[in-house]
Amino acid sequence: MSTKFNLCDFILFGGHGDLAFRKLMPALYHLCSDEYISEETRIITVSRRDISQDEHINLVKAKLEEFLEEGINQEQFEKFKKQLYVVQIDFSNDSSYEPLQKLLNEHTDRHRINYLSTSPNFFGDICSSLNNWDLITKNTRVVLEKPLGKDLKSSQEINKKVLEHFNEDQVFRIDHYLGKDTVQNILALRFSNRLFMPLWNSNHIDHVQITVAESVGVENRWEYYNEYGALRDMIQNHLMQLICLIAMEPPCSIDANAVRDEKVKVLRSFRKMNNDDIKNKTVRAQYTAGSSEGKSVAGYCDNCEVPSDTETYAAMRVDIDNWRWNGVPFYIRSGKRMQRRNSEIVIQFKTIPHSIFGVDEESINANKLVITLQPNESIELKMMNKIPGLSEGMKLQQVDLELNSPHNIDRKPDAYERLILDVIRNEATLFMRLDEVEEAWKWADVIIEGWKNNITSMKKYTAGSDGPSAAVQLIAKDTRSWNDE
Ligand code: BG6
Repeated sequence: MSTKFNLCDFILFGGHGDLAFRKLMPALYHLCSDEYISEETRIITVSRRDISQDEHINLVKAKLEEFLEEGINQEQFEKFKKQLYVVQIDFSNDSSYEPLQKLLNEHTDRHRINYLSTSPNFFGDICSSLNNWDLITKNTRVVLEKPLGKDLKSSQEINKKVLEHFNEDQVFRIDHYLGKDTVQNILALRFSNRLFMPLWNSNHIDHVQITVAESVGVENRWEYYNEYGALRDMIQNHLMQLICLIAMEPPCSIDANAVRDEKVKVLRSFRKMNNDDIKNKTVRAQYTAGSSEGKSVAGYCDNCEVPSDTETYAAMRVDIDNWRWNGVPFYIRSGKRMQRRNSEIVIQFKTIPHSIFGVDEESINANKLVITLQPNESIELKMMNKIPGLSEGMKLQQVDLELNSPHNIDRKPDAYERLILDVIRNEATLFMRLDEVEEAWKWADVIIEGWKNNITSMKKYTAGSDGPSAAVQLIAKDTRSWNDE
């Protein structure tokens, strides 16, 4: 691959923050090492810290060693470090941008990617300073990390400030779930196989389940998390995006707007909940002390000075009001400090209409398509077939048809590698458009408000368990059960 491609100045605001070190720098290191981006590309960390170029390089090296599973390759790092720059800027002080302007003006014709990995409170100031210092060209893009607000109103305020200086097609809103290979594979599976399309509707699908369970707690992000909780942190973005990919109509092309037009239609079809729905179809819960991976762990609020009513677990039944999904519930759940890390989407098909095998239809397992995102990515279609041999009558068994891609690549790229590369390539299909974000908030806001008014009470679950019993009842009420084996 030639390194003349994908040449840009990549400006990383908040470049000494947790996400930057944990995810973004490792992704950039891999993209440079694998020659997906040009070695001329400059990675300019913008930080409030007063730090020299050498100190910055040493810090990046130490963090890469900490966060790259396979460690760093010294030879690659020697090349990579030549691409690293640092400038000190106080985001809220417009007069501090001069060093950045000086650096960027060395290459005025370059594409510029401004990656804002800062608190959203700074997004407006940063964009306005970029504009004041004349650093926004037609080839300048801005990447916004979540959280994009706490509700529709705050999200609109953030987006409005950014859009005062950038056009919508220059704005890349990240949802890193869309960068996961298996998530993209949902599009491939649905729209490159004729097999599924006639079955992908309420005639044949009984329901859909989406689980994103994490064994970790809130780590060192308590302050952020306590303001957001599972509904805002996971459901409003990652899980809703997954629902969109499962539920959307076929777009006319893979083009960014074609895909996003279809996703936004799904979001508009989400049935708005009333208070009875919030009471009967949503569950919020918080973990108490327990054990995780063999170690005792404190409860979410064991060290709080004042009790917190932030949920670390959320589950709900989502209904989509359109022809395709009429009567097909989507059950979704996400929690921290669960027994194991496990994220999956289950498409549960209906049972067969009539059994010829001497057992009733219900005893013949209905087909199930299981898309696993974590810990190991896989796609399996659960099918019935005959147990081989001469036993009397026809005995059936469930077998797994594995639809996994052959693993002929050494290393699975992280979601952020894909997304960063797409921003550099100016390819927006995997990013959220303004109307998507707003529709998602409109729907979630109603639940946030209901929870605030205690329409449904906060449940408890033990850290390291499968979550609250209320989530089991949520789906059991509809005579169904979670796919927990
Ligand atoms: C982030 C959330 O968006 O996604 C975190 O803010 C969460 O709270 C993380 O832990 C989960 O991502 P992944 O890729 O590990 O499932």
